[in-house]
Amino acid sequence: DQVLRKQMRDAHRVVADLYHEVLMKTEAGEVGLTYLQQRGLEESTIGQYKIGYAPDHRRFTVDSLERRGFDLEVMVEAGLISKSRSGEYFDRFEGRVVFPIADRDGTIVGFSGRAIDERQPKYVNTADTPLFNKSELLFGFSQARATMRKQKRVLLVEGNVDVLQVAQAGTKEVVASLGTAFSSQHARALARMVEEVIICYDGDTAGQEATMKVVRLLEGYPLDVQVLMLPEKTDPDDYIRTNGAEQWRKLVESERLSVLDFMNRTLRRGKNMNREGERIRFIESMLVEISKTDNSIRRDLYVKKLANEFEIPVETLLSRMPKTSSKEA
Ligand code: GTP
Ligand code: MN
Ligand code: MN
Ligand code: MN
Ligand code: MN
Repeated sequence: DQVLRKQMRDAHRVVADLYHEVLMKTEAGEVGLTYLQQRGLEESTIGQYKIGYAPDHRRFTVDSLERRGFDLEVMVEAGLISKSRSGEYFDRFEGRVVFPIADRDGTIVGFSGRAIDERQPKYVNTADTPLFNKSELLFGFSQARATMRKQKRVLLVEGNVDVLQVAQAGTKEVVASLGTAFSSQHARALARMVEEVIICYDGDTAGQEATMKVVRLLEGYPLDVQVLMLPEKTDPDDYIRTNGAEQWRKLVESERLSVLDFMNRTLRRGKNMNREGERIRFIESMLVEISKTDNSIRRDLYVKKLANEFEIPVETLLSRMPKTSSKEA
């Protein structure tokens, strides 16, 4: 087992080097490099994250691994290549820009591949393997690690390209979960490293809903969780490309919302607060959200702030708060 895992790690390093070299130095990789340059990514960023390109060839990776003596069955198990029903080996990331995904020590254990044409799906990621557990890995973690420790904070974004663009704009303490949801293991790993988490998901409904889920996973820890809300239909990559790095850094330093203000902003949307009925419904929906807070100290702080904002006694709010369904007493 240890031998197999070592072979898998070695193969990932070899393949990552190959894809990177294809991207930077070959004609086959030019489409990939042009794509990344058009998205505003600089060579130094591409180098720091070791981005690559998998040639649009059915057996490029298969042949490269076979030539180097890797056991192809093991390579399938490692998620580096695929095998058809008829037993034929073929490439998995062909024709895609590839983002290596490393564990906390920087050992590459998987890839995320983005289509550069109209092919679907847009992203192909490594499925779970003996090395790769997506609920534990965060894209950009090893690159962000030193700055995370120093600044004691982390920015959490949705996408790989967001990570690259945010890091390139100077906010190096940035990571993304891999397509699927942020997990309780991710929360634990970040809580051990930092004191502050800034969630900066896409400015759409999906991003807002995902933000609330992340908040729920982090609120049990003594962290300062904040939310950076982006304009409608914008992600960090779009924002930086439109407004530039300096504007981005200003946004990060000045526009962060507390979790309570984020709830407030989201639940208030479309309501006319001058109408008493809508104001009451808003306050009740805030109480529902607050009641879900899995930390009694935080919960009390929120109720007090809400009470202040609307000049309502805390006792009145508490009497209208749904009974908490959290694990905590
Ligand atoms: P770009 O179009 O490259 O800027 O991607 P994005 O990050 O803006 O994509 P989006 O906001 O749609 O999705 C956020 C993240 O979800 C991506 O970075 C991927 O990790 C993941 N994702 C998006 N589309 C797919 C898909 O088709 N398949 C899988 N497995 N993951 C996806
Ligand atoms: Mn999308
Ligand atoms: Mn999105
Ligand atoms: Mn996005
Ligand atoms: Mn995007």
